[in-house]
Amino acid sequence: MPFSTPARACGIDFGTSNSTVGWLRPDAETLIELEDGKITLPSVVFFNLEERRPVYGRLALQEYLEGYEGRLMRSLKSLLGSKLLKSETTVLGSALPFKDLLGFFIGELKNRAEAVADRPFEEVVLGRPVFFVDDDPVADLEAQNTLVAVAHKLGFKDVSFQYEPIAAAFDYESGIAREELVLIVDIGGGTSDFSLVRLSPQRRSLAERHDDILATGGVHIGGTDFDKQLSLQGVMPLFGYGSRMKSAAPMPTSTHLNLATWHTINAVYSAQ
Ligand SMILES: Nc1ncnc2c1ncn2[C@@H]1O[C@H](COP(=O)(O)OP(=O)(O)OP(=O)(O)O)[C@@H](O)[C@H]1O
Ligand SMILES: [Mg+2]
Repeated sequence: MPFSTPARACGIDFGTSNSTVGWLRPDAETLIELEDGKITLPSVVFFNLEERRPVYGRLALQEYLEGYEGRLMRSLKSLLGSKLLKSETTVLGSALPFKDLLGFFIGELKNRAEAVADRPFEEVVLGRPVFFVDDDPVADLEAQNTLVAVAHKLGFKDVSFQYEPIAAAFDYESGIAREELVLIVDIGGGTSDFSLVRLSPQRRSLAERHDDILATGGVHIGGTDFDKQLSLQGVMPLFGYGSRMKSAAPMPTSTHLNLATWHTINAVYSAQ
C-alpha cells in the first residue's frame, strides 16, 4: 500500500463471536492486540455480581466458568435489528438499555485500541454484514443507524461502513500477484456473507472500487445457530422443551427458544 503516514481512522470489526480493531500504519501490523497479546477480543460481556463490574472477552468467559455469580452476554451484535434493542434489561440492580450494552462493548474495543496505539481515534470504519436483517430494508437501516448512534456517543465523530466480505476481499488482495476474480465467503457467528470481487495488485490503491464489486449477498445464518440447535436438542428437553403439560396441551416453547439463543437469553431475565 502506498502510504507513509498512519491512517487517521481505525477500523472496527464488531463481530457476533469475535471482534478486532485495525489501524493502518507504515511498517507495523494492522491488527491491534486487544487481549493478552491476541488480536481478537471475544464479543462477550460478563457482569460480575460479586465484584459489581463488567468484564470483557476471554476474561469474561473465564470468570463465568470459574463460577462467579453474574450475567454472561454473548452475540451482542444480534441485538442489532432485533426487537430487544428498544428495551432494557436489569443488570446489577439497575435498568440497562441494550443500546448501552452495545456501547459498553464497542467502547471497550475503542479504549483498548487507543491504549495500544497511544492516541485517540475520532474516525472509524465499522464493518457491517451485507444484511443485519434478512428481507427487511427498514429494520436493516435501523440497525446501521443504531451503530452510528452508539459510535457517536463513544466519541467517534466520523463514522463510515464497509461490508465485511469486501473487507475480507481487500485483505486477500494484499497477497496476490496478478488479477483474480474471487468469490469471498465469510462464515461468521451470526451471518454468512458472500462477495464476487475483481482483485488485482494494480487496482489495490484505487480509492474507488465500486466497479470491481460484482456482487454481494448474505444470510442470517452462522456459528451461533449451531449453539442454538445444540441447546434445543441436548439441553432444553431436560427443562421440558417438547413435553406436555398436565392438561396434555403442548408445553409453550417461547421461553425455551429464548434460552437457547444467546442474545434472547436476556429477554428471560426478569424477576418473574
Ligand atoms: N477457535 C474456534 N473454534 C471453534 N469454532 C470457532 C472458532 N473460531 C470461530 N469459530 C466458529 O466460527 C464462528 C464464526 O466466528 P467469527 O469470529 O468469524 O465470527 P464473527 O466475525 O464474530 O461473526 P459475524 O461476522 O457473523 O458477526 C463462531 O461462531 C464459531 O462457531
Ligand atoms: Mg465476521
